[in-house]
Amino acid sequence: MAKVKKAKANTISNEHGASMDKIVSLCKRRGFVYPSSEIYGGLSATWDYGPLGVELKKNIQDAWWKEMVRRHDNIVGLDAAIMMHPRTWEASGHVENFSDPLVDCKKCKTRFRADHLEEIQAEKGTEKGVCPECGGELTEPRQFNLMFTTHMGPVADSGSVIYLRPETAQGIFVNFKNVVDTSRVQIPFGIAQVGKAFRNEITTKNFIFRTCEFEQMEMQYFVKPGTEDVSFEEWKAKRMTWYQERLGIKSERLRFAEHGPQELAHYAKVAFDIEYEYPFGWQELEGIHSRTDYDLSRHGEFAGKEINYLDPEDNNRYVPYVIETSSGLTRSVLVALMDAYHEETIGEDKNGNPDIRTVLHLHPDIAPVKVAVLPLVKKDGLAELAQGLEKDLREDFATFYDQGGAIGRRYRRMDEIGTPFCITVDYESKEEKTVTLRFRDSMEQIRLPMNEVADRIRKEIRDYKRS
Ligand code: GAP
Repeated sequence: MAKVKKAKANTISNEHGASMDKIVSLCKRRGFVYPSSEIYGGLSATWDYGPLGVELKKNIQDAWWKEMVRRHDNIVGLDAAIMMHPRTWEASGHVENFSDPLVDCKKCKTRFRADHLEEIQAEKGTEKGVCPECGGELTEPRQFNLMFTTHMGPVADSGSVIYLRPETAQGIFVNFKNVVDTSRVQIPFGIAQVGKAFRNEITTKNFIFRTCEFEQMEMQYFVKPGTEDVSFEEWKAKRMTWYQERLGIKSERLRFAEHGPQELAHYAKVAFDIEYEYPFGWQELEGIHSRTDYDLSRHGEFAGKEINYLDPEDNNRYVPYVIETSSGLTRSVLVALMDAYHEETIGEDKNGNPDIRTVLHLHPDIAPVKVAVLPLVKKDGLAELAQGLEKDLREDFATFYDQGGAIGRRYRRMDEIGTPFCITVDYESKEEKTVTLRFRDSMEQIRLPMNEVADRIRKEIRDYKRS
């Protein structure tokens, strides 16, 4: 197919990375993420996902599910309840251990994480050992449990306390036996789950990075004791590849970081984080943990029912070991947006000033809108022709129809939300049944028959590689 326009791709220069302010502003402006209950002034550390944000989040979740459940014939899915029997959290160790050391200001009552205090004092330039907000006296550090509690049933006494789950993993452990008994899985096998988790976090700055309500994508892989180290290495490699190849995150912004003895969670024998280089530094995106038989043994003990696995090969029973991959879905949304964000100078405007476009180089698999259909003008039947095409494409792709304003401005609006393909319907489309297909990343345009455009887009999505 003849290329009709090699659009200024060689003039792309002067790239800027994403700052948190720019991401927050884009998210609000274009409907990715809003402050929660904003009309009441918002609620700290909670956010709502708007029309584009919910699509992006769902696409990341679908990509993860496809990778973990569809591509592995030994991984099955689960959707456990958020509210679980309170003994679950005693067995898991969360009641006893899931806490942060906090200090309170005796004067203004502000609460700080003891391990973050020095950093905050340095940031604000305040003296060590006093409240960074008001200079007041601080209490000694006290352990503060991160689980939210509520009451179930008609009487709100201590016997009715239940917790909002702080991780989805425990829903998987308590269903281990159900899954073994009702499906044909054999060790090694995995159970995958996506869902909400809740933590009463004190340090919640940085937008959707750390919030009180968030979503996790977790997979517990059950293995024979003695094989866990090999399995751990396999999952480490697979998970890193997923971020790079399926989510299109830049390799140089990802790395592994091993947990030292002080950081290891109470259940973990070895743990590595996959970290991303956020504008505020390297921080966790996913945790990969070797959890031994800790969880299944503890649930067996607390429920008074031994949980084990009968090996069909040698008829021996054992408590499986667990490799866990635990990704933040809402944190992955942030990473996808930050990594994709670029401001590119693509020439000069008519006054000689740099012409800058903002573009999200999202992997097409996760882009909220895949294809925009744009009639060059509304009149002369072009709008109707474009609407017909958009309706056909809707069956296969998330589409958007836009007929208002100059075509260049419409392209820019699509670039800003990461739409990888724009189809323009013009007068030639009427005569010759051809359209222009524009590619977001290169801004290149090609002409092709209207009835070939869906196949071409499918191929482009399948072969996409982030440049
Ligand atoms: N089941 C193991 C577990 O929950 P974690 O390292 O505490 O491990 C796993 O959490 C992932 O969940 C993190 O890597 C992060 O992506 C996400 N996550 C944890 N706390 C979060 C929070 N307060 N807000 C947003 N995402 C969070």
